[in-house]
Amino acid sequence: MMHKFNPAHKNKLDNDWRRKVIPPKPTLEKLGLLSEDIVADVGCGIGYFSVPAAEIVSSRNKVYALDTSKEMLTEVERRAEIVGISNIVVIETEEYDLKLQDESVSFVLIVTVLHEIINKERFLKEANRILKPSGRLAVIDWEKKQTEMGPPIDHRIDKQEAMEFLKSSGFEVSMELGIADVFYGLVAVK
Ligand SMILES: C[S@@+](CC[C@H](N)C(=O)[O-])C[C@H]1O[C@@H](n2cnc3c(N)ncnc32)[C@H](O)[C@@H]1O
Repeated sequence: MMHKFNPAHKNKLDNDWRRKVIPPKPTLEKLGLLSEDIVADVGCGIGYFSVPAAEIVSSRNKVYALDTSKEMLTEVERRAEIVGISNIVVIETEEYDLKLQDESVSFVLIVTVLHEIINKERFLKEANRILKPSGRLAVIDWEKKQTEMGPPIDHRIDKQEAMEFLKSSGFEVSMELGIADVFYGLVAVK
């Protein structure tokens, strides 16, 4: 059984450390999110990235905040309401079923989720299914080495391995970035 993030620890998803290391808006901009994008934030948690993504994309476009945890989605709704954002749609998903139509989004975001997934190829192929042709998928995950924060090393996925899974799931990696020696970022094109 893979380690899953415990929703009871949701305060770990928004704090000074995270805001310093992966500030949400600048990070999304670095990953290439554009105002014309339609976004699926897969494993959105409390919406740390979904809410700023909804501010970057046009208010006519949607950000789908997807998570298997209802508790997380309730928090996304609460946060969106506080800042008056109305283009976020929350959807309770299943492990390998994102509940969206084929080719319905242009940008998929997967932040610190991939390491929690047992069948990574199945999960990434499902992400590929909902992406429009030439759509982009951005992954951020923990470097597989000892860091002050984060899950145990044996629960992490190495960057090279993540790249292999992206390739075998129908993507071409177009950008690699290091984030504060703690996370890596990958952008891949369908
Ligand atoms: C560590 S949290 C990251 C949340 C968010 N991406 C962020 O960076 O703030 C991982 C989240 O992924 C969700 N999750 C795990 N497996 C999932 C799956 N197969 N589909 C959708 N969500 C999933 C968990 O419920 C949890 O909310």
